[in-house]
Amino acid sequence: MMIILDNEHVLVNESDHAAVREVLDSLDLSGTGSAVAEYEDDLAFWFGVDHAIACSSGTAALHLALLALDVAVADEVIIPATAPVMTAMPVLAVGATPVFVDVATSTSFALDHGDLATKITPQTRAIIAVPMWGYPADGPDLVDVCKGWGIPIIEDAAQAHGTMVAEHYVGTRATVGCFSTHNRKLLSTGEGGFCLTADPAIAQRLRELRNVGKRPGEGFGAVFGLNYKLPSLSAALGRSQLARLGTRVADRRATLRSVTEHVAGMAGLEPFPIRSDGLPNGYSTLFRSSTGTARPIAERLGAAGVASDPLRYGYKALYQVPALARHAPATRCANAERLIETVVTIPCHEGVGPQHLGRIAAALRG
Ligand SMILES: Cc1ncc(COP(=O)(O)O)c(C=O)c1O
Repeated sequence: MMIILDNEHVLVNESDHAAVREVLDSLDLSGTGSAVAEYEDDLAFWFGVDHAIACSSGTAALHLALLALDVAVADEVIIPATAPVMTAMPVLAVGATPVFVDVATSTSFALDHGDLATKITPQTRAIIAVPMWGYPADGPDLVDVCKGWGIPIIEDAAQAHGTMVAEHYVGTRATVGCFSTHNRKLLSTGEGGFCLTADPAIAQRLRELRNVGKRPGEGFGAVFGLNYKLPSLSAALGRSQLARLGTRVADRRATLRSVTEHVAGMAGLEPFPIRSDGLPNGYSTLFRSSTGTARPIAERLGAAGVASDPLRYGYKALYQVPALARHAPATRCANAERLIETVVTIPCHEGVGPQHLGRIAAALRG
């Protein structure tokens, strides 16, 4: 079936071309070029945090965060069962064991604090929170609970640039916030990512880890590290795109509202609830089937050429993913399974026009 409305919409304008050309002409192309430092300064300013560390992907950002927090073999890392495979792979990369926790309800990506409490052990070294599809999920209560336990939070905000909870951007209250700037993201450098942190020591470690363990005044390998730098060309593109991120989030929120209004009242379908102190970023619009499985709805959307992620990517609870199942032989997360079975995603990016709204509605009606 031909895709008529895809799930991503890349926006590149003349300012982006000019920014990339300027770096290209400078011949200062590597990940230590001045364009990277400028991008990082702008990221820190935009998000209102002290430190931003650019890197080569969202996966690299998560891997760097785990390494910076000294997560290693025999440690455990908590992950919501509704997270994508990309969140869990870096945990395997450091040799730690992922521990899957249920979500609070079947209409929330926030961690269930009751289940969390039963799964914390002396080996727990980090908790990863994952606001899926840019929907606000965990709030200040998770920060408080984790402070009490003395366990750092990594927020995997790969899909959540500009999402807000309790007047803060998602990813800015965690010990480390991790973002992707892959093509589909609201801030896009093709491939890329960044970490945010308020902690200067962690920021320093992230920089060393990203650049093969190089410390100021010392050579490579002063400490352990990898090459996870973001190239200067990508940083220039990211910086140019960042100048439009606020507008982009506002536009997408408006489209999310109009998609939701268009679908409102349709039998068997409800908008996915948004927490009262939160604002999504318009990465996608979410609905839930109120009649059980959303599969027939997703199939109808697919047949109409409208990309819907759960079916497209074979969305399943992380403990059902082959590469992860052996870490959780007895795990069942009832809310997560119900959420995954009932959630429907609909694009709400800048390419969604009135002609699509009609098509979406027709497909949903069946
Ligand atoms: C929630 C989440 N975490 C991590 C990643 C990994 O990011 P990247 O593809 O930049 O490595 C993604 C990518 O889509 C993601 O959606």
